[in-house]
Amino acid sequence: SAKKPLRGRKMLVTAGPTHEPIDPVRYIANRSSGKQGYAIAAALADLGAEVTLVSGPTRLDTPRGVTRKSIESAKDMLAACEAALPVEAAIFAAAVADWRVEAESDQKIKKREGQLPSLSLAENPDILATVSARKSDRPSLVIGFAAETETIIENGKAKLAKKGCDWILANDVGTGTGTFGGDDNQVFLLTRDSVEDWPKQSKEAVARTLADRIAKYFQEVDAC
Ligand code: C5P
Repeated sequence: SAKKPLRGRKMLVTAGPTHEPIDPVRYIANRSSGKQGYAIAAALADLGAEVTLVSGPTRLDTPRGVTRKSIESAKDMLAACEAALPVEAAIFAAAVADWRVEAESDQKIKKREGQLPSLSLAENPDILATVSARKSDRPSLVIGFAAETETIIENGKAKLAKKGCDWILANDVGTGTGTFGGDDNQVFLLTRDSVEDWPKQSKEAVARTLADRIAKYFQEVDAC
């Protein structure tokens, strides 16, 4: 229907930070609030989509009509995303940690006089690139984010190619923009052959604009 153009379509959204365990009581994390991803999940659900939200630890409530799968680490986020497939669209808004601690200690690391522990890091899986490269069950629309501090469009286009996704929402997170943890976001929507410059707006408005674009994409697919 006109008001629920995404009715019956399954979609996946990732959001929030990941926590990478050091030992049973300590972890490595980042400052992602999860706001943008939660707003996208809510906006898609408002248009009728069946949304699975794979979320790292946040302080946010699960949006109405959305199924949340809570995870902590990047590895668990990838597994939860794969378990949610097949979906028609996947939007990767999570701030996934680039590295995890190579060997998580199963006991709390003890403080010892005159000795510092050292942490060895291992690279985390790139969830967006992994899902984009799937041979089976690749979502027909895979969307990533690119947080840049300079030459946003150029770097965003390079990221689109490198990750193998279909669209990139590129935004400026330079110091003073207030994007990280803030309420507003100014983004460019990059596709393989177009650049759209969206006005600065709230993260909720960015989410509604994106959900409308996704609905338009599927309308056009259906018309072919
Ligand atoms: O490489 P970079 O972190 O700048 O890419 C950002 C995009 O890739 C975001 O959409 C983010 O959710 C996704 N990503 C991911 N898994 C990672 C790293 C980033 O899904 N390990």
